[in-house]
Amino acid sequence: MLIAITLLVIVIGSVVFHLFAPWWLTPLASNWKAMDDTLTITIVITGIFFVALNLFVVYALWRFRHRSGSGQRAAYQPENRKLERWLIGVTTVGIVALLAPGLVVYADYVQPPADAMVVEVLGQQWQWRFRFPGEGGKLGGSDSRFFAGNNPFAIDPADPAGQDDILVTSNELHLPLGKPVKVLMRSHDVLHDFFVPQFRARMNIVPGQMSSFWFTPTKPGRYEAMCAQLCGVGHPAMRGFVVVESAAEYQAWLKQQPSFAATLAPPPAAGGQTLASRGKALAQSKGCVACHTVDGSAGVGPTWKGLFGKTESLDDGSTAKVDEAFVRDFIRNPTARSIKGFPPVMPKIDLSDEELDALVAHIKSQANP
Ligand code: CUA
Repeated sequence: MLIAITLLVIVIGSVVFHLFAPWWLTPLASNWKAMDDTLTITIVITGIFFVALNLFVVYALWRFRHRSGSGQRAAYQPENRKLERWLIGVTTVGIVALLAPGLVVYADYVQPPADAMVVEVLGQQWQWRFRFPGEGGKLGGSDSRFFAGNNPFAIDPADPAGQDDILVTSNELHLPLGKPVKVLMRSHDVLHDFFVPQFRARMNIVPGQMSSFWFTPTKPGRYEAMCAQLCGVGHPAMRGFVVVESAAEYQAWLKQQPSFAATLAPPPAAGGQTLASRGKALAQSKGCVACHTVDGSAGVGPTWKGLFGKTESLDDGSTAKVDEAFVRDFIRNPTARSIKGFPPVMPKIDLSDEELDALVAHIKSQANP
């Protein structure tokens, strides 16, 4: 009897909780309506089954409870064709009703309108990069064999369509308000998943495949994008931001981003830029910042704040002073030794000698920021 009452309280509590819960979905992207309707259908159908099945259990517990001296015995019924037909029929209708709307919503989700602008999202352990087509409106071809230290997008240098592609090497993507966006996704290494929870938009990024979805941002703001597939030890650090803003603000931001041709050109001869500030830009574009912070907070790797000049304990029991030679050696040969408390997962990154100088200068400058 106690179990019957407990179940009844759980059923009533769940329904009341759902009706009064404050976490209703907010309308932030154009396709939200169809998606939310699908979610509502799912919760209604599963809710009906949840309530009906539990109430049946409550009824059975009450109706067939043990009464001393009544002489009642349970009957063994291994088969009941009529009941089975009913159960199979009702379950089939329920499953179809759950899945069929999703097909329609998904078809819409991957078929962008003709006037949608295009942005490419590039996932890599453990950072995001973004690319827009230039004036021509066409992205340049890409292939992993073109990957190089100065071509992290692996764009075909011989493809004229790629020269004016606009490259965003930070983890922040800006989008204009109210304009449909087709998001093309590509991975450099393993399975990732681009997910902006507020847009209800996410999609797996399978290595060797292009995937895509579209949406129209309908509310200005800065939204967190995250990776939604476990992609290695740096997975929790694989975050980015999507900034939705007015068309004018978006254009102003876009103008600051370099074209592919500009990133291929040799850097201007120290035109006012210090070695350390070039290193800071490199830390961003090479993805170091995904694992190393400069504010002292914990990351996958040691924070750079106060790192230079420190004495670190290594996994082999020895200690080492973090000086220029040590930092250089570590970046060139990341897995030759490992620092206590950090997994030996740092990838080897292609850097020219000049770039290595700049990066070391940046790390050095964080010794006493
Ligand atoms: Cu990329 Cu998790």
